[in-house]
Amino acid sequence: MKAIVLCAGKATRLRPLSHSTPKHLIPLGNREILSYVLLQIADAGIREVGIIISPDTGARIREAIGDGAAWGLDVQYITQEVPGGLAHAVKVSRHFLGDSDFLMFLGDNLIEGGVAPLLKGFCESKPDGLVLLREVEDPRRFGVAELDEHGHVVRLVEKPKEPKSNLALVGAYVFTRAVHEAIDQTGPSWRGELEITDAIQKLLDTGKTVVSHILKGWWLDTGTKADILEANRVLLGAVGKTGGMTPVPGLAACEVGVSCDASVSGCRIEEPVSVAADCVLKDCCVGPYVSLGKGVRVTGATITNSIVMEGAEIVGSFTVEESIVGSRSRISVEKPEGSLRLFLDSDSSVELR
Ligand code: DAU
Repeated sequence: MKAIVLCAGKATRLRPLSHSTPKHLIPLGNREILSYVLLQIADAGIREVGIIISPDTGARIREAIGDGAAWGLDVQYITQEVPGGLAHAVKVSRHFLGDSDFLMFLGDNLIEGGVAPLLKGFCESKPDGLVLLREVEDPRRFGVAELDEHGHVVRLVEKPKEPKSNLALVGAYVFTRAVHEAIDQTGPSWRGELEITDAIQKLLDTGKTVVSHILKGWWLDTGTKADILEANRVLLGAVGKTGGMTPVPGLAACEVGVSCDASVSGCRIEEPVSVAADCVLKDCCVGPYVSLGKGVRVTGATITNSIVMEGAEIVGSFTVEESIVGSRSRISVEKPEGSLRLFLDSDSSVELR
């Protein structure tokens, strides 16, 4: 069994952050999203992993992950020149996959319990495709599955306007080589992409077996700012509850707590937080659900429910909430009733509440 992890794509909904940081490297609890995905793959016993990268962000991902040895993996990189869709990503991985069965994991999805149960189910029933489904409130944002009265998958539709069920396709799938032929028989969708959803439908239409598992635990699809903050909350909360560094089943611990290499004076820290080495916190309130990257400096402010990345600085007597602050940014407020002086990248947003 091999795995491919999809990290190409444009991440337009995460601008301006995605201009400088590939979304898969955004830190949650001071560990990149992609790092959790790789940990879950290693935990499931897979060693050979192909990471699909784009020409824009590939170098940053290579630099962060290297040969994968830190995760006990053997990682190769596959460049997808254009974001032609999830099935297109499989197509460009064909030389890496050969005739192997494989796990396809979207590099921006986090799944409670990991993918080991999925692979166990695949090995037991040996279908041509296995999909993971979860009930969601707004299925129109996802691929959606229709099941018959016996629970068998009968139809899959990508982002339907009028969904026939509330079961969304989670971003982890297992396939045999039969999927390659199905992809070859599939054309671009209304959004111009080769959809894996259509390829799975093709497997069904040609009499191949596709089984589904229903995920009961949490699923985090980190496509928007709100999703990223929710993921940060869930991960810090889940690890916080188990008392520090104890791993959540199938998901190794993020860095919860305050690093002993941080300097903290006159502060109130409300757990769970993740405060990295070399942070300098003075007369401030931090938490709950706050991740501060290496070398962040905070003086006077109150920060809740936010991610502040490496080397950023926040100075003044004001509150920062539900925010993502990129590396080396500086926010200073001298007089809360004063005027704003801004120096922002394109697609930035400022809200004063
Ligand atoms: O998150 C689950 C959903 O993921 C499923 O319910 C949908 O059926 C599936 O199509 C997919 O939908 P998204 O619109 O959320 O996919 P997105 O474009 O965000 O891409 C998901 C990941 O795959 C992301 O890490 C980027 C990567 N990707 C995407 C495209 C389009 C690639 O590597 N290559 C691509 O060509």
